[in-house]
Parts: sequence; structure tokens; C-alpha cells
Amino acid sequence: MKLLVTGGNGFIATNFVKLALNQKYEVTSLDNLSYASSIDNHKLFQNNNMFKFIKDDIRSEEIHKIIKTGNYDAVINFAAETHVDRSIKDDSSFMSTNINGTHNLISACRKLIVSGDLLDNFKFIQISTDEVYGSLTPKDNPFTEMSLLKPSNPYSASKASADVIALSYYTTHKFPIIVTRCSNNYGPYQYPEKLIPLSINKVNTHSKIPIYGNGQQIRDWIYVDDHCRGILKTLESGRLGEVYNFGGNSEMTNVDCLKSIIKSIDPVINTEELFEYVPDRPGHDVRYAIDSSKSLKELGWEPQETFSSGISKTISWYEENIDWLRTRVNSSEYKNWMVKNY
Ligand code: DAU
Repeated sequence: MKLLVTGGNGFIATNFVKLALNQKYEVTSLDNLSYASSIDNHKLFQNNNMFKFIKDDIRSEEIHKIIKTGNYDAVINFAAETHVDRSIKDDSSFMSTNINGTHNLISACRKLIVSGDLLDNFKFIQISTDEVYGSLTPKDNPFTEMSLLKPSNPYSASKASADVIALSYYTTHKFPIIVTRCSNNYGPYQYPEKLIPLSINKVNTHSKIPIYGNGQQIRDWIYVDDHCRGILKTLESGRLGEVYNFGGNSEMTNVDCLKSIIKSIDPVINTEELFEYVPDRPGHDVRYAIDSSKSLKELGWEPQETFSSGISKTISWYEENIDWLRTRVNSSEYKNWMVKNY
């Protein structure tokens, strides 16, 4: 089975490509190699003859030709601008990539189905996020696939827009699409602007970790491999036109998450010493929590890692790949971002 993985050199997609190649899928990664993705994420499998790479952008006019030539069995769309803080500073690339880029891809695939250039059982998987549901209070029930879409920031609004465009194509055109929505991922290859790799880097360099507001916001952390297994199961047995949620069963406050990371790296350090409380993120969502019972029932999926097992794998990966981390934190792009944001 031939897969086109868009945004294939980014964090979650890199882990997905590795899993799919292990499961004997033929994989083409299409990526524009923007700041958070990199060609060296694919060092491990660049010589695998089941793997190909195309440098392009999901907004490109070439997309129709690329998909026609590749004659893929499925397109899995990971390509997105994903960092909430960047979307607060400047949302233009979020709107154009996440909305127009997704539309460009879906529309090209639909035209190729109509012209008979794609196989009858072609599928399109849209990788979305639990952020489209907005924020919960600590007492609310977790989000289900039926929860209202109530995004709070430009990033999540752009992802929600893409979701509703994708699902409208199913209703109107019977376009064979499935949407997945996952909670906060962590693991190898995550760009160090996100809380967990940023903190691992700060602890390793004995610098302070910036905590937005009071640090009592709650996230449901999921190890990236668990998410990737969920996406493969969606591809293999998900129902068209449906949404599937994936959560990690690991809800915790940001402060507790950071204490656990710091203690795993250095058990004797006084955790509070590394905390630096900084002004809150505007529109900061208080809590995300996911009800994954539909995915368990229909796909037989549930997370395998606990936060403790996943975070120790993650910390080990960053230690063993310290050059990967250093290359990023020493880049001018990263340094400029840190100055701009903090
Ligand atoms: O829930 C899924 C979403 O998780 C994905 O759709 C997003 O692409 C991904 O970025 C993530 O969004 P968050 O905003 O929750 O992730 P982030 O790592 O940026 O922040 C996690 C929490 O930590 C959040 O409450 C904000 C807080 N935070 C973050 C940073 C970067 C801090 O307190 N300090 C920081 O410096």
C-alpha cells in the first residue's frame, strides 16, 4: 500500500513514517522543510527503497500532478503550522497552510477520484487536534467526537476550519475522508519550542523554564508512538466520514508535568529553583482532556505508554541525540523566536 505523508519530515509524521515503514507500507514524504521539519529527521530510513522524499508545499499547484503520478492508496495530511504562540504573534502562515493548503490537497484528490486517476478504495486521513474543541473547566467531562468545536486561538481555529471543510467534502461529494483528533504529543523529534523538549533542554543547560501564568493549566499527554498507532488503525479500519479522538490518559498540570521531567533528569535538584513564572499566553486554554472510548470500541486502540514510561524514553532520546537538539537551539531561527516570544 502506497502512502503519501504530507508534512512527513515534521515531529509526529517522522515517527509515523518510521512505524509505517516497519509495517511494510511504501511511504513518500512530502514536506516544504520549514523551520520545524528537517531532512535529517529521515536519516534512519533515507536508504530504504520503500521510502521516497519530495520537497514541496501542500499549497503548491504541483500537488495535483504529484498525487496523480504517485497514484497513492492514501494521503495522510500532517502538514500544518502547529505552535499556538507563533499563531498569536502572526497567523498568516497558519491560515494559508492549515486551511488553504488542506483544501488544495483535498480538492486535488477529489478531482483525481472524479477523473478515475485514484483507486476506488483511496482514503484521505486529516490529522487534527483536540484543540479544536476549545477549553474545559477542571470539572467538565472530557471531549468526545460529538463535542462542539470552539477553538480559542488562531492555530486551533485554522485546524477547526480544515476539519469542517474536510467533513463537508464527505457529506457533499462522498469524498473518502477520516479526521483524527489527538491530545498533546511528546517524544523524539519534537521541535524545542514546545513545552516538553523546551524544558528538557532548559534542565540540561541549568536554565530556567518559563511557565505561563500560574502553571495550573491541564494537558493530557500522549507518547507519539501511541498516536501514530492510532492513525494506522484509522487508516486500516476507520469508517469514512468519521472523527476519532486519541488521548493519553495522562492528565496533569503543567507544573506537575515539569516537576516530573526535572526529577527524571536530576533527582536531587530543587524543582522550584528552575521555574520562572512569566506572563500568561493570551487566550490560554485551561484544560484539554480526551474521551477515546470510540477509538477503543471501533479501532481496538488504546495508549500503551504511561507518562512515566513515555517521558523516560523521550528524555533518553534527547540525551542520545544531543546534536539534533543543539543544532536546533543554536539556530538563529530558534534564538530569534525565543527573544520574540519571551
Ligand atoms: O492538544 C494538542 C496540541 O498540543 C497541538 O494541537 C499543538 O500543535 C501543540 O502545540 C500542543 O498545544 P499546546 O499549546 O498545549 O502545547 P505547548 O507545548 O505549546 O504548551 C503546553 C502547555 O505548556 C500549555 O498550557 C502552555 C504551557 N507553556 C508552553 C510553553 C511553550 C508554558 O507554560 N511555557 C512555555 O514556554
